[in-house]
This record gives sequence, structure tokens and C-alpha cells, in this order.
Amino acid sequence: MQKKFAVLGNPIAHSLSPIIHQAFAKQFGIDLQYEKILVPEDGLKAAIKQFFDNGGTGLNITLPFKAEAFALAENISARGLQAKAVNTLWMEGNKLCADNTDGIGLVVDCANKIELPGKTILIIGAGGATRGILGPILTTKPQKIWVTNRTIEKLPLLQQDFPGIAIGAMDALPSAFDMIISATPQGLDDTEISLPQHLWHTNTVMYDLAYQQNHATPFVKFALSQGLKVYDGIGMLIHQAAFAFYQWHGVMPDVNSLITANAPLAHLWERGRR
Ligand code: ATR
Repeated sequence: MQKKFAVLGNPIAHSLSPIIHQAFAKQFGIDLQYEKILVPEDGLKAAIKQFFDNGGTGLNITLPFKAEAFALAENISARGLQAKAVNTLWMEGNKLCADNTDGIGLVVDCANKIELPGKTILIIGAGGATRGILGPILTTKPQKIWVTNRTIEKLPLLQQDFPGIAIGAMDALPSAFDMIISATPQGLDDTEISLPQHLWHTNTVMYDLAYQQNHATPFVKFALSQGLKVYDGIGMLIHQAAFAFYQWHGVMPDVNSLITANAPLAHLWERGRR
């Protein structure tokens, strides 16, 4: 019987998850249904219940629901517990199980882009996206991770949960990071972004967790305007999907052949490799 999967979010129209999961499924001859479901802001619990009551097998959770999904889950992976946010759900018996594959997806995507061990890394943003990536990045043994945020009052709580990090206001950061990661939703609108020049050197790698299908995100545009190497979130998106797929199906898809076999994804992937 065809298994049912979906991604829940708001907004959701832009999601590439159905294309990615269908392409992975094709690699293994798995026949599945994967839909995008727009969930009202107060409707997550009901949407999850309805999906699994109707025989659904697995859900991805995207903005703005990852922290709420964490609160609803009953069995949570170590990565999910550390992040306090989850993006992958399934049922075991009558228990709602959850994992967060974002951080591991980012780390695997970085393997071909920048060596994280020994590097200094700045993360901009202190929300669920940052919580999702911090644990896995810390395991790669960077020299230091700094986190900054528009609302600096949120930073001490983050540091309490991740004691390995340093925190600071944007104008009080040390100079020249090897990698700067944008973990704010600014990539989803067209706000212009500008960062103080002392934060990077000529070899700094910039990485926006966000991506846009049809044009560069403001963070990517800014990095390009400074002549810096920059990646958008398409690589992380594909790798986090691969780990969610593995969780649900017990087989690990081949990300490289997905990219070469799927023209729209190949285009986005190449564009994200600037
Ligand atoms: P997510 O769960 O995806 O991380 P979030 O919890 O809304 O989303 O957090 C987004 C982060 O991006 C927050 O740190 C937020 O800063 P505040 O704590 O000050 O709200 C940051 N952010 C959102 N919009 C921003 C903007 N226009 N400029 C700078 N930071 C922004």
C-alpha cells in the first residue's frame, strides 16, 4: 500500500520537500505520497493528529512549528532534545516520535564546502534554526562558535543550553570569522542585509540556512557583493531530508545522484555553490 508523508508549515507553498522525497523514493522503487499541508498558526496539534489518525507514516515540520512539535512529541532523539525543536515525526505504537535532522544535514553538507574543525564560526540568530544546528556543529570541534542576535536578551538562555558557545552583541564581536551562518528568516523576504566589515576576511565562507527558489537571498546577495564564497540552504535542505528519509524508510538515499537526476534541484544546487 502507498505510504503517506507530508510537510506541515505556514507558509508551505514554496517547500521542495515533496520533490526531494519523491526523488529519493524513486532510488529505492518505493511508492509513496508526499503532500504539503498549510497549517493555521494554532492548528499544529490537530493537523498532526488528523494526519496519523488517517494512516500517515511520517511528517516533516517546518516554520514556524518546530518548537511546538518538540513540545507535542513523546519520544525524542538526543539531537531533538538538545535542539528543543524537531523537524521529523513518526509514530511508534501510540507514541509520537521526533528527531531533528537539520543540524546533521548542515554538517554533512558542509563536508564538501568548509572544514569545520578548528574554525571560528559566527551564527546570526537565536531561534529554533540556531538551536537545531548548534549541537551537531559543536561535535565537529570548531575552535569557537559565537552567536549573536537582534534581541540580545535571548542569548544567555541559549548559552545555558549550549555552554560551549560564546555570545555577544553584533558590535561587540571579535574580528574575522572563518564562517558566518545566517539563521534568521530574513532570507525569506527582500530586506537588504549589511554586516560590519570586521566580521570577515577574504576566505570567510558565508552560509544562509534559508534559500529562495527563484533568486538569491538578501544574505547571499550581500556576501556576493563583498566577493565572499557563499552557499544558500539548499544543500542543508537536501541532506536533512535524506536523514528524515532514513529515519522513516531505514535506507539512506544517495544525495549526489538525486542532484544529477533532477533538473530543477540540480539548478538550485549549482546556484547554491557559489
Ligand atoms: P526559527 O525558529 O526559524 O529560528 P524564530 O524562532 O522566529 O525562527 O527565530 C528567528 C531568529 O531570527 C531570531 O533570533 C530573530 O531575532 P529576535 O530574537 O530578535 O526576534 C531573528 N530575526 C528574525 N527577523 C530578523 C530580522 N529582520 N533581523 C534580524 N534578526 C531577525
